[in-house]
Order: sequence, then structure tokens, then C-alpha cells
Amino acid sequence: MATVTFIEHNGIEHSVEAEVGKSLMQIALDNLVPGIDADCGGECSCATCHIMVKAEWLEKVGSPSDAEDSMLDLNPEREANSRLACQIEVGEIHDGLTVDLPEFQF
Ligand code: FES
Repeated sequence: MATVTFIEHNGIEHSVEAEVGKSLMQIALDNLVPGIDADCGGECSCATCHIMVKAEWLEKVGSPSDAEDSMLDLNPEREANSRLACQIEVGEIHDGLTVDLPEFQF
């Protein structure tokens, strides 16, 4: 297990116990964290699971694939630390991971 924290745009924090091996998107849905739509169910084809990774976690989370990068480019609110939560598989090394949620999903 790993504890991950989602911070809503309004500052409300949701710290949840994440099952290792699941995607960050699925963990958010399983724990009823608001703000992740995940319209495509995790197929990297909707970009409605957009999150921003806190700077100190960027190295451990890694870089997006070319497919994810292309999807992120469609989002007008993309930031340098933007990722798609369905493309991040949570492992033990992510214990303490904190991400910001955007105000809206597109
Ligand atoms: S759930 Fe659709 S891209 Fe992540």
C-alpha cells in the first residue's frame, strides 16, 4: 500500500490508501475523489484524468509516453507537470505522492 494525496483546485485534500499496481486514476475513482472524470476508462484517449504532479515527485513518477504526451497537448490547461492519472501505475516508491487536480477536466 502507498498513501497518495489528491488536492482539489479549492485546496481540499484527499489522502487515500492506494493499492500498489493500480493506476492513479483508478485509485481516485475507487476512493470517490472528485475531479477525475476518466471518460475512456483508462485507455489514454480522453485526457479527462488530468492531474499535475508536485515538483518533488516528478522524477519518481517519470515522463509521459508519446501517446500520453499527444493527449496532453489537446488540453488547453496543460502545465509542465501535467500527467494523465490513468497512465501512472502506483508502486511502493510512490508512498507520499501528492498531485493537484485541475479546476475542470476537458
Ligand atoms: S482515463 Fe481517459 S485518458 Fe485517462
